[in-house]
Amino acid sequence: MTEIVKIQGLQKKFGKFQALHDVTFTIEAGSVVGFIGPNGAGKSTTIRTLLGIINRSGGSATIFGKDVWQESLAIHKRVSYVPGDVALWGNLTGGEIIDLFMKLHGGGNQAKRDRLIERFELDPKKKAKSYSKGNRQKVGLIAALSVDSDLYILDEPTSGLDPLMEIVFQEEVEEIKNAGKAILLSSHILSEVERLADKVVIIRQGRVVEAGTLDELRHLTRSTVTVETTADVAAMANVPGVHDFKQTGSHAVFSVDNQHLNGVLEEATKLGVKKFESVPPTLEDLFMRHYQG
Ligand SMILES: Nc1ncnc2c1ncn2[C@@H]1O[C@H](COP(=O)(O)OP(=O)(O)OP(=O)(O)O)[C@@H](O)[C@H]1O
Ligand SMILES: [Mg+2]
Repeated sequence: MTEIVKIQGLQKKFGKFQALHDVTFTIEAGSVVGFIGPNGAGKSTTIRTLLGIINRSGGSATIFGKDVWQESLAIHKRVSYVPGDVALWGNLTGGEIIDLFMKLHGGGNQAKRDRLIERFELDPKKKAKSYSKGNRQKVGLIAALSVDSDLYILDEPTSGLDPLMEIVFQEEVEEIKNAGKAILLSSHILSEVERLADKVVIIRQGRVVEAGTLDELRHLTRSTVTVETTADVAAMANVPGVHDFKQTGSHAVFSVDNQHLNGVLEEATKLGVKKFESVPPTLEDLFMRHYQG
């Protein structure tokens, strides 16, 4: 696989405050990396260093194999960026701003622009200062997605979009991904990350604390099992990997380390299964763990 982005041991200090301690991850072509973590964890700081807007205090970062500080001009020709709070020139219309962004980027795809304006239901003739937050966000998104880039860096791009527009966004991101492009998606909308991300990177206090596919991350955690057996279900409490065991009559509910699921199934079979239900942790379960420390 082609590595589009490679960040290694990235550090950033603002004066005495160290915002990034150790950020390491990669983004491959044709994949979406979901970048999540609590407020102030360092997502936007990582993104701003990637864009070459702010300098690093340590570590390295490359895009297309080029150093992001030495060769930012060459890199930016092939990168689209959407911030979470799009700032616009108030006296221009949305359409004019989109065209300006596209020109600055050396063209862009007119047909795609028109299709996106229609899909996102944006009125391009209105002046930017009259747009609502969601509509400002759409202008930024349409401008960025209309350009054929190899890497799309999206920092909370859907903040302010309504649920229908969120779906349009997700479909457009999937199309870009299927075209082989790379996408970095920072978001607090976990359902969005769950649907789109091939890999999730969780950052907390300037450090990557977890990274992998959703399946890999789920493997590290526990599923919730509900079981009903013919013989006394109490025996299940002693199976390795079983936690928080609660019994009501012939019913039991407990959590189990995913690598021990097989042993749980075996024991349940011995007791005579009447009901067995295993629910994997949601991204929210995984995320909340890191929120709460
Ligand atoms: N220019 C700056 N000067 C000083 N401190 C800064 C600066 N920019 C960011 N920080 C600090 O760095 C830390 C990381 O901020 P950052 O904006 O990267 O967080 P984030 O993960 O994007 O959070 P959010 O989810 O709220 O967008 C915060 O403690 C923030 O206050
Ligand atoms: Mg941020």
